[in-house]
Formats: sequence, structure tokens, C-alpha cells
Amino acid sequence: MSQPHLRTVVVLAAGEGKRMKSSLPKVLHPLLGRTLLGHVLAAADPLAADRTVVVVGHGADQVRTHLAEVAPEATPVLQERQLGTGHAVRIALDAVPDVTGTVVVINGDVPLLRPETVRALVEAHEDADAAATVLAAEVPDPTGLGRIVRDAEGRLEQIVEERDATPAQRALREINAGIYAFDVARLRDALGKLSTDNDQGEEYLTDVFGLLRDAGEPVAVHCAADHVETLGCNDRVELAGLRQLLRDRVNEGWMRTGVSILDPHTTWIDVTVTVERDAVIDQNTQLQGATVVGAGAMVGPDTTLIDTTVGAGASVLRSHAVGAEVGPRATVGPFAYLRPAARLAEKAKVGTFVEVKNSQVGAGAKVPHLSYVGDATIGAKANIGAATIFVNYDGVNKHHTTVGEGAFVGCDTNLIAPVEVGAGAYVAAGSAISQDVPPGALGVTRAPQRNIDGWVARKRPGTVSAEAAERAQRAGEDASGGGGAASEGD
Ligand code: UD1
Ligand code: CA
Repeated sequence: MSQPHLRTVVVLAAGEGKRMKSSLPKVLHPLLGRTLLGHVLAAADPLAADRTVVVVGHGADQVRTHLAEVAPEATPVLQERQLGTGHAVRIALDAVPDVTGTVVVINGDVPLLRPETVRALVEAHEDADAAATVLAAEVPDPTGLGRIVRDAEGRLEQIVEERDATPAQRALREINAGIYAFDVARLRDALGKLSTDNDQGEEYLTDVFGLLRDAGEPVAVHCAADHVETLGCNDRVELAGLRQLLRDRVNEGWMRTGVSILDPHTTWIDVTVTVERDAVIDQNTQLQGATVVGAGAMVGPDTTLIDTTVGAGASVLRSHAVGAEVGPRATVGPFAYLRPAARLAEKAKVGTFVEVKNSQVGAGAKVPHLSYVGDATIGAKANIGAATIFVNYDGVNKHHTTVGEGAFVGCDTNLIAPVEVGAGAYVAAGSAISQDVPPGALGVTRAPQRNIDGWVARKRPGTVSAEAAERAQRAGEDASGGGGAASEGD
């Protein structure tokens, strides 16, 4: 689609957000995969703006650092003192003196805004050749918000802040959502005429509408289809409310594309996550960051996946994974911990109480129980016995262990890196392996066993063990005919 107008986006993000009671600037609070500011920028993204200006003030350095990460093309502009939304826009436009066309202004604290809504607002504004268009919504509770005041013909007359409103105006439930489109030349002109003659002594951006209308300029109202999109966020209670609303929106979206979410109220999926068809997400599950869940995979219950890829048909049960890759039809858990660069190939198994870090687990290989696998390469179809520890750290450096294809490592083994167990080799249970085991060999480091007869009776007399041993001994004597002689051949 061609863009007939040049567009500039201005996001207002200089406020402190006092009621958040936080050392983090309000717009940097996270909400299912993005900050509040990140959500607003994403909503404006499809406008394909030529310039994006973000007005920063409180916590300016933190906000600038965040912007450099999520929207490096955006220009931060400093508003040293928060003298009002009109003042903020004036400063923003001073930084881009050359822009023409449409300026879209968005409050930084309306994260549920949909891109479609911003686009519809801007298109309605441009189609009508309006000087200014405001997004409005009918809300059940307008407390604290600016009211849309219309004349007898239903045309916008002015926007009045609650604290400056008459009782009759206060009764209106149509509110200003804090998202606007302006013709830049007429906006600049009106901003120059703003007064601070209001309850807060600030320059209100909203006063631009009354000024333009009085000058005979066309001003318009665009109504949001769903008022939920226009909800702002002033404290942590409201933030939690927005999080639930966004959770439901995200979950509903995935269910409509063919994903089963067994308990949508306890499933929290970041907006940055991808879930493929026929995946099943069980209760108490969080999918975060760049996580991708493949077709038909099962995740949960009680599972957190961060920046983790789960292949088609794989299952991850009651586990925690960060920066991991789970191959197709691989199985993980219950109670596994996959750390960064844990890579499980197709049909690999990482079972109960197993931690894997920076390691490849080959196709069909198994680490079923109670193991630590760090800095290792495990070949296809190898079997790692219960309680095997990959001893990767010597106190100073980390070292690598290789276990070849089809190797069999017995239970309770230490593989002391750097070391290699060859393809098809065996390691005897209970060994501490510090030298390579050649392919097909058996590595064993166990001391021969010796039994010291009668030790318990001598050293632990009167204990439960001693009594049990005595009973067993007597039973043995009875069974052998009471003669006391050991049977031959034992
Ligand atoms: C504003 C609107 C109100 C609307 C509401 C919607 C004005 C005067 N009022 O009120 O009509 O219903 O939003 O949520 O605009 N900011 C700056 N610099 C400033 C002041 C504010 O950058 O000097 C930023 C804030 O960080 C925030 C946004 O502008 O992101 C809105 O400011 P806020 O103080 O929250 O305005 P409201 O009182 O909510
Ligand atoms: Ca606000």
C-alpha cells in the first residue's frame, strides 16, 4: 500500500509515574515480553513512520538505553522538566523541524493499543484532511481521564481534564485515550498558543483541539471499537489488570490458530512467542522471550520456557528452560533444568532432576535421571546412567567432555573433563573417568570389593542393623539344618 503522507510518531515517555512507586521509570515496566514503551512502539510500527521521536525525562538514561535496544531508529528527546503533554510535544517537534504531513502522538503508558487501531485512526484523520483527530472510547469508569466534550451537533468542542471539568462534563463517559493524529503545521501553530491556565499549571496537548476548533479548523474524533485498548497504567494494580487482559488476548489468539491451552488463566505467553498448531500448553506455564513451541508439542504443566525452541512433537513436563533447544519428539522432565545452549537432538531424552548446560545431547540419546551435563557432546543413542556427573569445572576453567555414539555410561559416574568416551564404549558404574576410553572398550576405575565378616556385630552392637544381621544369620543356620556348617559351593 502506498503511503501518501509523511508520518512522524511522537511517544510521550518523560513522566515519572509516581504512583508506580518504583525506581524503574513507568514506561520501562515489563508486560508479557515488552516494556510498556515497547508495546506502544510496536503498535505504531505499521505506520512506517519516517521519524519516531520519544520524549524522555524521568530516568532518561535508562529509557535511552532501552530505546537503543528495541528501537535504535527512534530519536530520544529530553524534556528536562515535565511541564505538560503540550510542552512535551512542542519539544519533540523542535527536534524535527523539517517534518511535514501527519504527526501521531501516543502516550507512553497505553500498552494494549492495537496496531490496527492506530492505523485506523491515522487513515481516518488523513482521509478527512483533519487538522487534529483524537482517539476516544466509551468507558465504564472515566475517573481521572480527559472527557470528550461535544456540541449540540455531536462535533468535538474541546477536551477537558477531569480536574478542570464541570460536574456535567465529569458525568460524560467518552474519554480521551491519549492517542492523536495531527497535521504538523497546524499543530505547531496551536502549540505556540497553549496557556498554562489550568488546575495543574501545565501546557495541555488536549487544549490544541479547542484552539483549532475556535480557529475554524476541522477537528475529529475517532472511536475505538474496544475501550480496553485505551486503558492506561498508573500503578501496579492497574499494571496487573492490564497483564491479565493481555494474557487473555494472547491466549485467545493462539487458541484460534489451533493451539490447545488447557487453563488459559494460568498460562502466560509473551507477545514475542510463537506457538504452532496442535501444540498443547498445560496449566501454570510461562512461555517467554523468543520461545518457539513446535507443532504438536506438549508443554507443561508447571513449566517456564525462556528463549527456548521446542521441536514438533516434543514434550517438556514440569521443567525450566533458558536459551535451550529441544529437538523434535525429544522429551524433557519432569523436573529438568535446561540452561543456555543445551541442545537436544531429535528424540533425545533428558529426564528427572537432570541439569544440562552448553551441551549437545545426540539423537535418541538418554540422560534419564539425576545428572549434571555441562560442556559436553553426547553422541546419538548413547545412554547416560543415573547420577552421572560431567565434571566440567576445575575451579578455574571449564572443560569439554565427549561421549561417542552408542556409548553406555554406568550409574554414578564422574566424567572428569577434558575426557572422551569413545563410540560404543562402556563405563562401569561408579567410575571416576579422567582418561579417554577407546571405542568399544570398558572403562572402570573401581577398587575391588572386600567384605569384612562380622564387622557390624563387633563395631555396631545393639543397633537395628546388628539385630537384623543376627536374625538373618540364625535363619540361615536353621535353613541349613541347624548344623551350622556352610553348604558347599557357596
Ligand atoms: C492524559 C490526557 C488525558 C487522557 C489521558 C489518557 C493531557 C493533558 N491529558 O492525561 O486527557 O485522558 O492522558 O491516558 O494530555 N508526559 C510527558 N511529559 C510531560 C507530561 C506527561 O512526557 O510533561 C507523558 C507521560 O509520561 C505519559 C503521557 O505523557 O506517558 C501522559 O501523561 P499523564 O501525566 O499520564 O497524563 P494523564 O493525566 O493521564
Ligand atoms: Ca496517564
